[in-house]
Amino acid sequence: MRQKLAAGNWKMNGTGAALAELEALIQTQSAAKSEILICPPATLLSRAADIASESNLSLGGQDCHAASSGAHTGDLSAQMLKEAGATSVILGHSERRADHNETSETVAAKAAAAWGAGLTAIVCLGETLAEREAGDTLQIIGAQFATSLPDGATAKNTVIAYEPVWAIGTGKVPSLAQIAEVHDFLRAELSTRFGAEMAATTRLLYGGSVKPGNASDIFTTSNVDGALVGGASLKAEDFSPIIAALDAS
Ligand code: 13P
Repeated sequence: MRQKLAAGNWKMNGTGAALAELEALIQTQSAAKSEILICPPATLLSRAADIASESNLSLGGQDCHAASSGAHTGDLSAQMLKEAGATSVILGHSERRADHNETSETVAAKAAAAWGAGLTAIVCLGETLAEREAGDTLQIIGAQFATSLPDGATAKNTVIAYEPVWAIGTGKVPSLAQIAEVHDFLRAELSTRFGAEMAATTRLLYGGSVKPGNASDIFTTSNVDGALVGGASLKAEDFSPIIAALDAS
């Protein structure tokens, strides 16, 4: 009912030499059951798209501007990403929320722009350690969910990634019960707002220190449909066993 999704976020890593990792991934994962998505730096998108054409690997951006064009030095529009070969775009990653003061309102405007260009929006939500320790996790996730997603979200145009800020790049992973609590909550929120059919078909990813050694456990957790992987997506030899674990889940 929901095709599993293994998504890699390369963040600000990778020059042309990193494209060899895509070639290796394509070679080893040609029979994967899961959907495989890599979001490289935008500078690599069109070369990556050439390499990935005819393969089961798709490509995404890591951010887009809410406007379709204009005086926004350094920014990229959703249409530009689409033309460069992206099918998806990550939006509202906690690094963008922190480094670029992105609010959930901004994220919603970007999601609408992504949809307008025909891209799937991978909308990221997550609590800080202080918020978790204060017992506010579901309240924070609920507020981010309510504001970051515009009306009109569908299972085709939207993927949600739960990425606890304190688990990103730290090697710390929530307990499986903590992951399940948030994913079950998000599934219920989707149903309340967008209806049972949409909720049953929309993918929910977990992200934050997913590695070959913990992937199997995470993928057997309630309502986890895949992962958004940072560091372990940079090398095919690390990402491949994660995809294999997802296929087996
Ligand atoms: P790590 O897998 O490196 O913790 O990063 C997760 C992430 O932020 C993916 O978007």
